[in-house]
Amino acid sequence: MKDPVITGTGLWRPENTISNAELVASFNAYADLQNAQHAGEIAAGTRPAIVHSSVEFIEKASGIRQRYVIDKAGVLDPARMRPRLEPRRDDELSLMAEIAVAAGRRALAAAGRSASDVDAVLCAAANMQRAYPAMAVEIQQALGAGGYGFDMNVACSSATFALEQAANAVRCGTAKCVLIVNPEITSAHLEWRDRDCHFIFGDVCTAIVVEAAGTAIGSERWSIDGTQLATLFSNNIRNNAGFLNRCEDTDPDARDKTFMQEGRKVFKEVVPMAAAHIERHLARLGHEPTKVRRFWLHQANLGMNQLVVKKLVGRDVGDDLAPIILSEYANTASAGSIIAFHEHRADLRAGDLGVICSFGAGYSVGSVVVTKL
Ligand code: COA
Repeated sequence: MKDPVITGTGLWRPENTISNAELVASFNAYADLQNAQHAGEIAAGTRPAIVHSSVEFIEKASGIRQRYVIDKAGVLDPARMRPRLEPRRDDELSLMAEIAVAAGRRALAAAGRSASDVDAVLCAAANMQRAYPAMAVEIQQALGAGGYGFDMNVACSSATFALEQAANAVRCGTAKCVLIVNPEITSAHLEWRDRDCHFIFGDVCTAIVVEAAGTAIGSERWSIDGTQLATLFSNNIRNNAGFLNRCEDTDPDARDKTFMQEGRKVFKEVVPMAAAHIERHLARLGHEPTKVRRFWLHQANLGMNQLVVKKLVGRDVGDDLAPIILSEYANTASAGSIIAFHEHRADLRAGDLGVICSFGAGYSVGSVVVTKL
């Protein structure tokens, strides 16, 4: 069995940001337009008025201050309220593949690898832009990688679940050098017209190189000491968009065809689940949570992350133990914990222990215990 190591990560983010103030101004303009258009029904009590959103609420409830988006104008247009993405021909590189290739190249450069060294590409994300061919196969070809590629979706836990697949492939020798990409175009599955969730998501792509310790050539290595995955069915985060929709004669623009959640229930149920999961995983490997130098957690809600770590180490902690990137990026689905790992690991020393952990729809929780070599 070969020992798997992470040798590089890469990040791609769009040029555009939307501040909370810009987002709320556009939402409120949309609400005013809708309320004026339906004034009669609202006065008759047959339709509720849309209530304004607020920057103060968003920052207090979530910790999010801004988000990156591929298309800003479409999202902020009160008459549209979703990104405007140009359709591409079949012989053009698709959008998800384009951002995955950009992040993937950066991760490979960090690992000192070229695409021809890669013999497996895993495209792991909360949404795929088409049914087939698999995004990973297009990305594999665009990069010039060999071997095989496949897509996998475990919503916000796609990246950590992919890390287990990559580590196992390296351990068993079915792949030597695995590239994981997490192209998360969350702006396309978010319902920007829903006040309860319009502030939640942002677009980004992360990438990770996993290979055998013995043949790695990069200067930075993180041993994957263990992975632990868990799932428990819940409808509290759900999106019913799917290939059966047109046969069911349902409205493709109906509310249930984009992201929906019971945010408060998710908060209450997932915090204890994630904390217990990490504690169990560390115990299996013979570690106390207080010995962990850094937790790179899923980035959905500031309070959630603070509570998970407090449950683990028994005290309030700051950014050094559990860095927060969601204030800048918002929730980026499976990419969140990987952005945190990408941006906040340079100060760690050889022997330092860390935990990458995602939690989200499914429910799904995935933890990856790593040590800097
Ligand atoms: N602006 C102003 N007020 C708002 C608002 C907005 N944009 N959205 C909701 N509110 C109001 C609600 O109407 C409610 O008012 P009420 O008390 O008068 O009924 C109040 O704020 C509280 O709403 P609630 O939805 O209970 O807020 P919350 O404190 O639970 O925060 C989330 C909402 C989504 C930020 C929070 O629940 C969360 O992050 N949960 C975890 C989500 C998660 O991890 N999801 C994983 C996704 S991958």
